Amino acid sequence: MRSHWNKQSLCFLASNMQQLILPALLASCWTLCSGADWCYQSQFSCDHPCNGPEKWNHANSNCEGKQQSPINIVTRKTLKDERLTPFKFDNYQQIFRGTIKNNGHSVQVGVPHLSTVSGGGLPTSYKAVQFHLHWGNNGGPGSEHTIDGEQYPMELHIVHMKHHYIDLTTALSDPEGVAVLGFFYEKSNRANRKYEPIINALRSIKNANGNTSLLPVSLAQLIPAEQNLTSYYRYKGSLTTPGCTEAVVWTLFESPIPLSMEQLRAFSELKFHDGNSMVETFRPVQPLNGRQVFRSGGAVILASSALLMATIATALGLSQPN
Ligand SMILES: *[C@@H]1O[C@H](CO)[C@@H](O)[C@H](O)[C@H]1NC(C)=O
Ligand SMILES: *[C@@H]1O[C@H](CO)[C@@H](O)[C@H](O)[C@H]1NC(C)=O
Ligand SMILES: [Zn+2]
Repeated sequence: MRSHWNKQSLCFLASNMQQLILPALLASCWTLCSGADWCYQSQFSCDHPCNGPEKWNHANSNCEGKQQSPINIVTRKTLKDERLTPFKFDNYQQIFRGTIKNNGHSVQVGVPHLSTVSGGGLPTSYKAVQFHLHWGNNGGPGSEHTIDGEQYPMELHIVHMKHHYIDLTTALSDPEGVAVLGFFYEKSNRANRKYEPIINALRSIKNANGNTSLLPVSLAQLIPAEQNLTSYYRYKGSLTTPGCTEAVVWTLFESPIPLSMEQLRAFSELKFHDGNSMVETFRPVQPLNGRQVFRSGGAVILASSALLMATIATALGLSQPN
């Protein structure tokens, strides 16, 4: 691990020397290519020195802002907020024929702007625009957000914008213009049949920029049942890729989506632009910088309830002597 970082520092030292030679040219490239010239840590090598997460501020200075995402959620420091009521999902059952694309960083599916979400403490209603995923290496740790330090194998982001905007670019200029619903995945012994359209399409889009049409799906079929979506966390953050715009109302649902190991592994068959396996497509967690994370009425603090039980058990003299 250590030598890996040293190698990277050396590569960047070399690239910094280039910057000294051609500062103006590079400066204009950072502006022109903003958002294009970045990579995940897993993509970095000296042969292909790209801007890993520590250098995303070169792609866009927003990436060194004070309200960045993802974060680690420390459940015992979350604050229960009674305004975080259940969401109202409209047209989430709507079946659509989407296009799934390997965009070189992830797989993304454009969603017709018909499905909306409101309630859940959101200031207004938001309409779905696209969804994409973040994953690990062959089913290993891969989520962006972590809960009490636990990294799940994958994370789904359904990106929404305030209902009156016509595109994401406009919505991102509003500090609450975008609402992302985040869902974690967990390994299951059984394949999740509702995910077959997505999993089967991956074979056809192994290469960067590949796209294919998706068999009909609805957003509702990709997420847990509505009654399981009352427990969630809420905080203000950013996009987790450059430009890292701080315009996102984040929701992370506690209830995970089950996928089999084989289904999780299918994502590691995809390729980045450079032809290497598209794995570990997550940004490291970012500092909270004093932000408060809220939890809905339903969200349970597992650690604390375990502690509470232990306290009660001790008080009643039930604890095992050891
Ligand atoms: C899908 O790829 C084809 C070329 O193979 C291209 O013409 C089309 O615009 C692409 N569609 C999307 C949504 O990227
Ligand atoms: C809802 O949550 C319960 C309890 O955690 C779980 O057993 C059930 O499978 C979940 N249902 C769905 C559809 O996610
Ligand atoms: Zn994302």
